[in-house]
Amino acid sequence: MGKEKVEYVCQECGHRNLRWAGQCPACGMWNTLVEEVVERKVEGKGGKRARVEAVSLGEIPEDAGVRRATGMAEFDRIMGGGVVAGQVVLIGGDPGIGKSTILLQVAQRLASAEGRVLYVSGEESLGQTKLRAERLRVDNPHVLVAAATEIRSVLEHAARVRPGVLMIDSIQVMYDEEISSAPGSVTQVRECAALLARYAKEERTAVFIVGHVTKTGAIAGPRVVEHLVDTVLYFEGERHNVYRILRAVKNRFGSTDEIGVFEMTGHGLVEVPNPSALFLSQRQEQRSGSAVGAAVEGTQPLLLEVQGLVASTPFGMPVRKAVGMDVNRLAMLLAVIEKRVGIRLSSQDVFVNLAGGLKVSEPGLDLACAAAVASSFYDRAVAGDTVLVGEIGLGGEVRAVSQIERRVMEARRLGFKRCIVPAHNLKAFREKGKAEVMWQGVRLVGCEDVQRALQVAIGDLD
Ligand code: TYD
Ligand code: MG
Repeated sequence: MGKEKVEYVCQECGHRNLRWAGQCPACGMWNTLVEEVVERKVEGKGGKRARVEAVSLGEIPEDAGVRRATGMAEFDRIMGGGVVAGQVVLIGGDPGIGKSTILLQVAQRLASAEGRVLYVSGEESLGQTKLRAERLRVDNPHVLVAAATEIRSVLEHAARVRPGVLMIDSIQVMYDEEISSAPGSVTQVRECAALLARYAKEERTAVFIVGHVTKTGAIAGPRVVEHLVDTVLYFEGERHNVYRILRAVKNRFGSTDEIGVFEMTGHGLVEVPNPSALFLSQRQEQRSGSAVGAAVEGTQPLLLEVQGLVASTPFGMPVRKAVGMDVNRLAMLLAVIEKRVGIRLSSQDVFVNLAGGLKVSEPGLDLACAAAVASSFYDRAVAGDTVLVGEIGLGGEVRAVSQIERRVMEARRLGFKRCIVPAHNLKAFREKGKAEVMWQGVRLVGCEDVQRALQVAIGDLD
């Protein structure tokens, strides 16, 4: 038997403290420290230690690393092409957003006689899973379903079945009976994830783990296991919206920040092949307070509508609110507009919204955001055929963005005629010193500073 040890573990960030405290010293959250008994096994006593042996890079056999594609193009792209043997994938998101749904759909497409898929549901009975599978038209005979929550017995079963892919739904209901803390606590979640990761690497089985994003304090969220897995996918978007965005926030086998847009239908998640068109579909061109920006998420260019609303504040303290964007970035942009362009916003409430439920933290959207705000302030619409691209610096300068061609191409594809871009980026189109360039039917207007860019977008700022 190991020595019993008590620790206070923050259920938010996973920090371990020897003493209880009202506030977590690591993340600063209140009332998140919970007592957990951590039993440490004294391993390897008298037994053999695993041997470590180094080899030169040339001696390592080429990883057969064949990717198994699911055939769901969006999902494969987010994954970097498909699933790799031994890969551990965490799928996180709010309850009810579609994690179990996408797993079953992936199972249907990955399962074959050589590589069966074992789907372990700890939250739903076999009957419930069957109902869901029927709805999703999952009928692949090589998908095996089990209802279980004890992780070691799950792994024992997997060792017998030897599936090509193991799916755990969800990590928060799994527990290791050798640990006395409650299922869903940081210790249990971490231990179960570590066992799964070890199993994946040893057996070269791909493992999908579902993790609910949780409200403070109740149960441990997926963040505490992010470092244990190869790939982290998060669902964004709201439950009452039919569109769901799946984003790779970490991927050892592909590029990060890759996103895929899905629609929740009666038969599960369906890919949206042209997300830019979707995000712009409800735009009203003639209305002030709306600007179209071009962002790049991973390798995918995306046109997005930024909505701005400026209204005089009824109280002394003006409100700044942002949906889909970082509110601190917004505050900075407003300060720059006020100081460098002279638009007086200090007695105005400002609201900014990224239409479509996407969250973007890319500076390339700065200019569109500034234009949406200025457009609402002056109550003049941005020309409907115009896209704005550019990062705004503290000096009011418009800074170059990456992958400008991709963004302009996407704007062209969707029928836009004019792009307001950073002057510096015009070099990419091989025209030196010119302020404007015609490129494949799109007029590119290079701007050095935000004042000039706003003038081009909405006319004279008086
Ligand atoms: P689910 O995958 O159960 O969410 P999670 O596992 O992330 O908690 O998604 C459930 C939601 O999706 C639920 O509100 C019902 C809806 N849904 C559909 O609209 N169509 C479908 O075919 C399925 C299976 C679910
Ligand atoms: Mg579920």
